[in-house]
Amino acid sequence: MLIKVPKSWQIPERDATPETDFLTRRKLLALAALPMALPAATRNPEFTLDRPLTEEWAVTSYNNYYEFSSNKQKVKDLVGNFKLRPWTVEISGLCDKPQKLSIEEIEKTMPIEERLYRHRCVEAWSMAVPWTGFVLSNLLKRAEPKSSAKFVRFTSVNRPGEMPGIGQAPSFPWPYVEGLRMDEAMHPLTFAVTGLYGKPLPIQNGAPLRLAIPWKYGFKGGKAIFKIEFIANQPATTWNTAGPKEYGFYANVNPKAPHPRWSQAVEQIIPTMGRRPTLLYNGYEKWVASMYNGQEI
Ligand code: MTE
Repeated sequence: MLIKVPKSWQIPERDATPETDFLTRRKLLALAALPMALPAATRNPEFTLDRPLTEEWAVTSYNNYYEFSSNKQKVKDLVGNFKLRPWTVEISGLCDKPQKLSIEEIEKTMPIEERLYRHRCVEAWSMAVPWTGFVLSNLLKRAEPKSSAKFVRFTSVNRPGEMPGIGQAPSFPWPYVEGLRMDEAMHPLTFAVTGLYGKPLPIQNGAPLRLAIPWKYGFKGGKAIFKIEFIANQPATTWNTAGPKEYGFYANVNPKAPHPRWSQAVEQIIPTMGRRPTLLYNGYEKWVASMYNGQEI
C-alpha cells in the first residue's frame, strides 16, 4: 500500500491565504499594529443606568458621521480608507503650556475608565453606551489654561480623500467644529472617549478620540478630534452655524424645548424602536443644573 506522507512544507489548498487577504496584506498588517485590546478599564460604579445597555452591533452600525455619509447605516461601510495613525492632538490657544501629544501618549498617561452613559441625539433617538476613556479636564489641565480662556473649541479632521461624505456635501461648513464653555469642558462628566465595549473605538464612532457630553445632544461631541483650543469668545460651531434656530450652542437635553420640526418630549430607543420620555439634562440634572442657573439651557 502506498501512503502519501506530505512534506512539512506542503500545505493543503484549504489552508492557503485567500487571494483577497493576500492582495490587501499591507492593510491587514497595519491594522494588526494597532492595539487590538485595551488594558481592562475599570467600570466607574457612579454611573449606573436606568435602562439596558444598547447592543454593540447597534451602537457600531447606526452612526451620525457626515464626513462619511448622511446615511447612518452606511457609515460603517465607508470608513475603510480612514488613517488612524499617526494621530496627534494639538492643545493650544490661551494657555501657558500649549502642546502636541500623540494619541499613544494620551492613552498611556490618562487615567482610563469605563462609564455607562445615556446617549441622546437631537433627532430624538437614544442609546445607552459603555464608553472607555478619561475625564477631559485631566488632559486640558496639562496645558495650563489662562484665566482669559472662557471657551474651548474642538476641531475634527477634514480629509476628503479618506472621508467620502465631505465631497458629497461641499457646501457644508467643514471641518466639523464644536465648542463648550470652559466650566462645561472642565466638568467631571465631560468624557474623552477612546474605546467602546472594552475595545478600541471603531472609526464610525469617532476613533481615535471623540467626546461624550452626556447631558447634551450628541452633536456636541465631535468625532476624530485633532485640535483643542482655549479661546476668549463663544466659537462658531458647525450645527449652530448651519441651523441656528434648530441647534443652539448649549444644546442641553430638554424635553420641554422642542426642535422646530419635532418634539423632544419622547425619544426612540435604538434599535428596538420602543419609546421613553426624555429626561431633563438627559438624567444628569443633579450633576450639571447648577452650571445654568437662570440661564438659557
Ligand atoms: N462628529 C463629527 N465629526 N461629524 C459628525 O457628523 N455627528 C454628531 C456627533 N459627532 C458628528 C460628530 C452627532 S449628530 C451625533 S448624534 C453623534 O456624533 C453620534 O455618535 P455615534 O455615531 O457614536 O452614536
